[in-house]
Amino acid sequence: MIEADAAAATDSDDDYDAERLRLIREVRQRLESLARAGVDLLPRSPERPHVPRSAVAARVVVEPPPAPEPAAPPPAATRPEPAPQPTTTPTTRTRPAPTPAPAAPAAASLFGATEFKSPFIEPADRPAALALLAEEVAGCVRCAELAASRTQTVFADGSPTARLMFIGEAPGADEDRRGVPFIGKAGQLLTDMITKGMGLRREDVYIANILKCRPPENRDPLPHESSNCFPYLERQIEIVRPEYLCLLGRISAGTLLNTALSMGRLRGRWHRVFGIPAIATYHPAYLLRNPAAKKDAWEDLQMLMRAMGLVVPKKKG
Ligand code: URA
Repeated sequence: MIEADAAAATDSDDDYDAERLRLIREVRQRLESLARAGVDLLPRSPERPHVPRSAVAARVVVEPPPAPEPAAPPPAATRPEPAPQPTTTPTTRTRPAPTPAPAAPAAASLFGATEFKSPFIEPADRPAALALLAEEVAGCVRCAELAASRTQTVFADGSPTARLMFIGEAPGADEDRRGVPFIGKAGQLLTDMITKGMGLRREDVYIANILKCRPPENRDPLPHESSNCFPYLERQIEIVRPEYLCLLGRISAGTLLNTALSMGRLRGRWHRVFGIPAIATYHPAYLLRNPAAKKDAWEDLQMLMRAMGLVVPKKKG
């Protein structure tokens, strides 16, 4: 059927044909990838069923997926699915009540499919949706202390259609000054991890933080601050709908996985956040202070790269 369609398409307008063939190829690759992951039935509608927040109490930590390890590097358009199979290990820490945020934090999937409250936003509409949200964030005064002490809010950086989203902790002094996340020393290391390590461009991933305001003296975010800011991050994830998340550091991982487990316990395996496969790894600022942990962080990134179908460079020597 696909071949017949493709053959018929070659008779019409060139641009139309090329686009159609590209789409057919993409759909076929996606279906093959799903089939490899054991999926043989698909729902008719692209919309995901809505699961009320109150229906799920805790985020879950899941065991590592059988991340596909392509024998040969796949073409750039290929998007292999890691299809992590959740074996539930509900974490016990509960999120503190927001003060005075109107919305309670959302819950992650228990069952594996991605779950969002809002409908899918077409890639072409994502920049505008994010710009609108950024405007709302810029006027946020939910945390009186942060609103009074910030130079500006720091919303995000990168592509609104990124496959991969990095989530850090909160802006530091450099970020507060420039309004862009991860541009100080830790940001330079993150950029190197993305570009030199993973072979991606920084502008092709999406980078955000748990908090959009700099905490005074770079202190840890307070629980009510994380709760107040969480709905903004949730919207960012919903709009961008990345295929993978990389949670940087214990604040990011602790907040999104609702856990107090150490990074040593969280790294090196797969989790899900809103059903999105997620890894947790050391924060670049921690790596600057503890260079010996870079080896572990690199292993985490390689696990992510394999799942994403990216080429992992062979070890030298
Ligand atoms: N650390 C973070 O977690 N985020 C930034 O944006 C900068 C440093």
